[in-house]
Amino acid sequence: AKLGVLVSGGGSNLQALLDACARADFPAEVALVVSNVPTAFALQRARDAGVEARVLDHKGFGARADFERALGDLLVDAGVEWVCLAGFMRLLGADFLGRFAGRVLNIHPSLLPAFPGLHAQRQALDKGVKVAGCTVHFVDAGMDTGPIIAQAAVPVLSGDDEAALSARILKEEHRLYPLVVKLAVTGGVRLEGGRVVSPLGP
Ligand code: GRF
Repeated sequence: AKLGVLVSGGGSNLQALLDACARADFPAEVALVVSNVPTAFALQRARDAGVEARVLDHKGFGARADFERALGDLLVDAGVEWVCLAGFMRLLGADFLGRFAGRVLNIHPSLLPAFPGLHAQRQALDKGVKVAGCTVHFVDAGMDTGPIIAQAAVPVLSGDDEAALSARILKEEHRLYPLVVKLAVTGGVRLEGGRVVSPLGP
């Protein structure tokens, strides 16, 4: 299956997907990486892996719908079947999502529905939760609100700052995202009537 990965930043989750796709038994390849941020290090990671990387700066578009149409066109032209958001810091609207219905995934560094949006790890520390983690979910038009596929939990340890907790969560992100992508592209994980069907359980 051909993946399109959307990024805005460092791209460590992109790297985890690139590494997974490099394994002979992995049923997907990254066909295209698109960043809305021209300086994103993720672009370099893509090029280092021999993957086409494009910049599509949303600031160059008048309306959000125009940016999203151009983004969708890039992905479709590259033959992309599944879209993976990996630190992509833009919401996507119904028109875009409709072009890839049930085939857009995101990873978020909290146990959703707790702490959507920016700085999820800081939100978790501020609330004093004792368990944190990450979530892979299907994307809808809301902010980190789509149907949940899988989660991994990590402890919050005394003395944790944002960097320490983020690093502990990120390690789980890099494990979980390729696992879910594999299950999704092989049909084990799917959306049926707005609900997630998954061999990972409930
Ligand atoms: C990750 O924590 C991801 O869950 C969140 O943004 C961060 C991106 O990190 N959506 P990276 O760019 O993949 O290193």
